[in-house]
Amino acid sequence: MDIFEKIAKHMGPIGQHQKWSHGYFSFPKLEGEIAPHMNFRGKEHLVWSLNNYLGLANHPEVRKADEEGAANFGMAYPMGARMMSGNSKFHEQLEQELAAFVGKPDAFLLNYGYQGMVSIIDSLVDRNDVIVYDGESHACIIDGLRLHMGKRFVYKHNDIESARKQLERAARLVEQTGGGILVITEGVFGMSGAQGKLKELVELKKEFNFRLLIDDAHGFGTMGPTGAGTHEHQDCIDGVDVYFGTFAKSMAGIGAFVASTEEITNYLRYNMRSQTFAKALPMPMVIGLLKRLELLKGSPELREKLWTIATTLQKGLRERGFDLGVTNTMVTPVFLKGELLEATALTMDLRENYGIFCSIVVYPVIPKGLIELRLIPTAAHTLDDVQRTLDAFSEVSDKLKAGHYKENQFAID
Ligand SMILES: Cc1ncc(COP(=O)(O)O)c(C=O)c1O
Repeated sequence: MDIFEKIAKHMGPIGQHQKWSHGYFSFPKLEGEIAPHMNFRGKEHLVWSLNNYLGLANHPEVRKADEEGAANFGMAYPMGARMMSGNSKFHEQLEQELAAFVGKPDAFLLNYGYQGMVSIIDSLVDRNDVIVYDGESHACIIDGLRLHMGKRFVYKHNDIESARKQLERAARLVEQTGGGILVITEGVFGMSGAQGKLKELVELKKEFNFRLLIDDAHGFGTMGPTGAGTHEHQDCIDGVDVYFGTFAKSMAGIGAFVASTEEITNYLRYNMRSQTFAKALPMPMVIGLLKRLELLKGSPELREKLWTIATTLQKGLRERGFDLGVTNTMVTPVFLKGELLEATALTMDLRENYGIFCSIVVYPVIPKGLIELRLIPTAAHTLDDVQRTLDAFSEVSDKLKAGHYKENQFAID
């Protein structure tokens, strides 16, 4: 059979919808400067879809640093992988500042978070080791697991009893193999907004011998008294052995980092295949990231504003009867009961008639049978934006309950 034949029959779990979703639900074009108000299909929309948590994407000082970095170094510099020819004093400075901020002795920059996480996992374990991981882990963790040649045991999402059971299995197994155990969770689960139970997992170290790796893509910059992350928020910085954060969210940039002891970070520096065999972060990004980190550390008011917007939005939605699931962070999911077509009609109504743009999330990003509208509050939003959104959500919720969206499907022109 021609390998392409099956593609003609099935475009994949998300791709199968692309005929009607492309350009609208998938691959939409948000135009204009990154802000809560942007243009979608020629009309201004109030946007709740960007992980620009602290509003740094368009901060004048950030824009200036980005411009200066590009003017002084160009996009190409440095050429090559860090190990071979792509190192610079600014890359190292950023690593030192990040490490100090997240409470670890050393850090290593990663050119993308996704590939970075895959490689962290790949380089930390061998076939004798066992990985115990949360069942709702991000795709980059799952892809890291796919490379693992040894056993992996999944525990029920955020269920510590389940984690204990899997650790018992893992402990029995490594007694035979002579390997070790790596536990992986997220700091903040980006789809549900639930915090990983880091503190409870760290407590399990009293019963089991393991190391803890956390993916804090959403928690870095947003969680904790100084914004250092979810490990700071839960007061268990030392219990997290390997900390991973991305620059794609609070830092409004691209790239990521991993932080740990000097020995482990240095091991990762020399063994992560996605970094050894790929180009270093370009200098303008590194210069811009130094400025972003300075602002992130020095402007607690941005984080406070983010939390004001998030808590006002969530309180208002809950008062109006919306199901926000288990979020205990700024990530604001709205779970709807309804068929996929109703959810898409509702989302279109929000966009076309209320000028509100939020993302719709379906399987396989979230479990089958759930439809989620995901709102990401940021420090750049205003309380007026929140009120307008609450009013609109009240109206569309009433329409949903009245069966309006069953009868009124929209056509995307
Ligand atoms: C939990 C989590 N981990 C990792 C990543 C990947 O990060 P990056 O965008 O830097 O590749 C993301 C981004 O979506 C994420 O949400």
